[in-house]
Amino acid sequence: MARRRQLYEGKAKILFEGPEPGTLVQYFKDDATAFNAQKKGTITGKGVLNNRISEFLMQRLAEIGVPTHFVRRLNMREQLIREVEIIPIEVVVRNIAAGSLATRLGIVEGTRLPRSIVEYYYKNDALNDPMVSEEHISAFGWASAQDMDDIVHMTLRINDFLTGLFLGVGISLVDFKVEFGRLWEGEEMRIVLADEISPDNCRLWDTKTNEKMDKDRFRRDLGKVEEAYQEVAKRLGILPEAGVRDLKGPEMMQ
Ligand code: TMP
Repeated sequence: MARRRQLYEGKAKILFEGPEPGTLVQYFKDDATAFNAQKKGTITGKGVLNNRISEFLMQRLAEIGVPTHFVRRLNMREQLIREVEIIPIEVVVRNIAAGSLATRLGIVEGTRLPRSIVEYYYKNDALNDPMVSEEHISAFGWASAQDMDDIVHMTLRINDFLTGLFLGVGISLVDFKVEFGRLWEGEEMRIVLADEISPDNCRLWDTKTNEKMDKDRFRRDLGKVEEAYQEVAKRLGILPEAGVRDLKGPEMMQ
């Protein structure tokens, strides 16, 4: 079968032209980067697990009425998605102080925040994804006030729902990053959840031990990175059937 046309290659995923107009194929790589790609590595089986974890979480979110770009999983590393116009904002929600918030404001990592905090970062690698406010977002036309209303509303629902879902499997949702896109249906435009939700863009801590089960294990050289991603999938009840052996399977199944 002829290879599909590649449209875009990011740090962790590749986008290919989809089988029908308005669709794309999202391929999940094992490549891992941190600190705006200054640190590079491979997490064996990450692509397979993130494909499955993101599918699972987006399906559960769709069930509570959060619209997403996800259509269906195609194989171990690929999923079919709706083509959207990505809004160039990374939306971060924090429930517990960690990472850049802990550093920037001098708060001890692990401190529960008085309320969930939403932050925005402008998606621009050359500028190192700077933090911006709603003022910048509307002044520079990255998203309208109506778009931002929808985005904040969806983000808070996603946070409440995922916090509960993860708590149910013994995991604290410390913080996470989501992205949204504009989906055009004729003249109508809807904002939908896009990109992925996986241990690459969430901080997930074991509720009992506070052990990190996410990309911080790679960022901070804590070891057992593959095992952490597998454990998240296992607790969600979605580890590929043949178990860990499956993760090293064929790169691409058409
Ligand atoms: P931070 O504490 O480094 O700002 O990260 C906050 C959350 O956002 C954390 O769950 C990791 C995620 N994140 C990404 O998904 N992509 C990024 O480029 C960064 C910096 C963070």
